[in-house]
Amino acid sequence: MSGRRIIQSVVWQGQICDCILEGDRIAELRPAEGDGSGGELLLLPGLIDCHTHLREPGQEHKEDIASGLAAAASGGFCSIFCMANTVPVNDNSAVTSMMLDTAARAHPRGPALHPVGALSRGLAGKELAPMHELARSGCIAFSNDGIPVSDSSLMRRAMEYSTDLQRPVIDHCEDSSLSPEGMISEGPVSDRLGLRGVPSICESIQVARDILLASYLDIPVHLAHISRRESVELIHWAKNKGVPVSAETCPHYLLWTEDRAVEYDPLAKVNPPLGTADDVTALRQAVREGVIDILATDHAPHAPFEKEVPLSRAPNGISGLDTALSLCWTLVQEGVLTQKDLVRLWCHAPARIFGLRANGFNPGDPADFLLFDPRDSWTPTAESMRSRGKNTPCLNQELPGRIRLNCRRGEVLYGQFPEGAA
Ligand code: DOR
Repeated sequence: MSGRRIIQSVVWQGQICDCILEGDRIAELRPAEGDGSGGELLLLPGLIDCHTHLREPGQEHKEDIASGLAAAASGGFCSIFCMANTVPVNDNSAVTSMMLDTAARAHPRGPALHPVGALSRGLAGKELAPMHELARSGCIAFSNDGIPVSDSSLMRRAMEYSTDLQRPVIDHCEDSSLSPEGMISEGPVSDRLGLRGVPSICESIQVARDILLASYLDIPVHLAHISRRESVELIHWAKNKGVPVSAETCPHYLLWTEDRAVEYDPLAKVNPPLGTADDVTALRQAVREGVIDILATDHAPHAPFEKEVPLSRAPNGISGLDTALSLCWTLVQEGVLTQKDLVRLWCHAPARIFGLRANGFNPGDPADFLLFDPRDSWTPTAESMRSRGKNTPCLNQELPGRIRLNCRRGEVLYGQFPEGAA
């Protein structure tokens, strides 16, 4: 977009401001002129989701790159990462290039798509993927997400290469030998329901291994979808010792517990499984205090026919791009997080960890922003969700807040400029 544009009377960190755009950049954010009327829409920088599954190539009945990016645009994201567990796996430059070309054709204005290259060939955990080739063709990070890396020596070598390439490893922490066929967290609830459980140490054992590797090698590692108190405590310990570790959790681990399993609801089946109320308390504190650095959706869309089966046969995953901001807004309403926390967790911290340019609303910053109406509400339904995956426990439930406009580099990705924007 070229030219100058003024968005009047929007709220940035509690102050009513006018935001002036110059082409694809922020020219200025200044206290509002005029009578300060209006001021109902919140101004936020474009969100970054460093963990999604877009299913293309190979499983387009669940999602494809076009529908995933449409969901991201309406969910307030300016950039998303897509994991490598496609069919075929993104372990070579042909798949990476295909993803980037498809995104550029389907959504030339964005959201920006950043493929995450496989850490191991075929995600088989036996030999490294061609990491130089993947980095050269545009991968932003490396991960075996979906299938844990049990071979510590392979993990070590991946971390060593990743530091040369300046693209971090994102690890899916799970010792799957402890969780064969586990469906929900192991404990009194799984015992009562007679369901096979996943012990909490299944995650934290691998968190501990990764922390020890990061400490020994002095190489950063990013830990995906952290869900349990023990993991939080280990990460806290590691950060206090100066170990270069960062971590993410997801809105569903901050909001819902294993009690969802009481109804045997496949929509609440996710890996790692939803934890206990105590895990939720620990995770909430960790995101507030920065022990957990960022939020990510782990958007894992599945087709309705795949989830409409008994719990034991349903695939793991929650669709998250459409609902992330509204779900997090419930946490702001409850006083768990502040608006400032959301900006840090969804934008500035992920940008720092993965080397992206984020909008701090300073002159010259990229005009990646959204306008959010906290007084409105919406209901995610099969029709209103843009993702092909309708698999969320909050389907058909009213959620607070509504995105009015999402722009990347000054171009509209979703919604409209408010009336009166000059
Ligand atoms: O629930 C999940 N679904 N967890 C993962 O790690 C993978 C993901 C998927 O690809 O469906």
